[in-house]
Amino acid sequence: MDSDKEQTALQNTSREGENRRKFLSKITLGVGSFVAAVLAVPVITSMLDPVLRKKTPRWRKVGSLEDFEVDKTKMVSFKDTSPYKWSTEISQTAAYVRREQGDTFTAFSINCAHLGCPVRWVEESELFLCPCHGGVYYKDGSRASGPPPRGLFKYPIRVVGNNVEIKTAPIPITNMRA
Ligand code: FES
Repeated sequence: MDSDKEQTALQNTSREGENRRKFLSKITLGVGSFVAAVLAVPVITSMLDPVLRKKTPRWRKVGSLEDFEVDKTKMVSFKDTSPYKWSTEISQTAAYVRREQGDTFTAFSINCAHLGCPVRWVEESELFLCPCHGGVYYKDGSRASGPPPRGLFKYPIRVVGNNVEIKTAPIPITNMRA
C-alpha cells in the first residue's frame, strides 16, 4: 500500500517537473522570439530604406521677385523634409540664390561638394568659402580651390508669377546635379 503511495507521489513529482520544464521552455522561447524581433527591426528597416525614401523633389517658394537684387547672392531658408514617408516636415535648411538678371536665377546648395559643410557667401570677394577644409568657390558656384572635387551642387529654380521657387530634394548633395 505504502509503495503504491510512493509510486503515485513519484509520478506526481515527475509530472510536475515535466510541466515546469515545458513552462520554462515556453518562457525561454517567448523571450527569445521577442529579443530576435527587437534585433530584427533595424535590419529590416535598413533593407526597406530605399523603398521608404521619398524620391520626388518638391518645388518650394523661397521668396518673391522683389526680394532679390540683380547680380546679388542671397541666402534663403525653407523647410526641409525628412526622407521618410511617415514623417512630416521637420527642420529648416538653406540655399544660396543668385539673381543673374530679370527672371534668370541660380540656386546653389549650401553644402560644400567636398564633405557637405555649410559654405559661407562673402559679398566683398564674391566667393563662397567652406570653413571645414578651406574649399573656395566662385560666385557662379564653380570650384576655385581647395579639396572640393567640383563646383557647388545646384537646385533647379524657376519663377512662377511673382514667386521664386526652387526644387528641393531631401539630400541635395547626392540627389541633385549641377
Ligand atoms: S567640407 Fe568643404 S572643403 Fe571639406
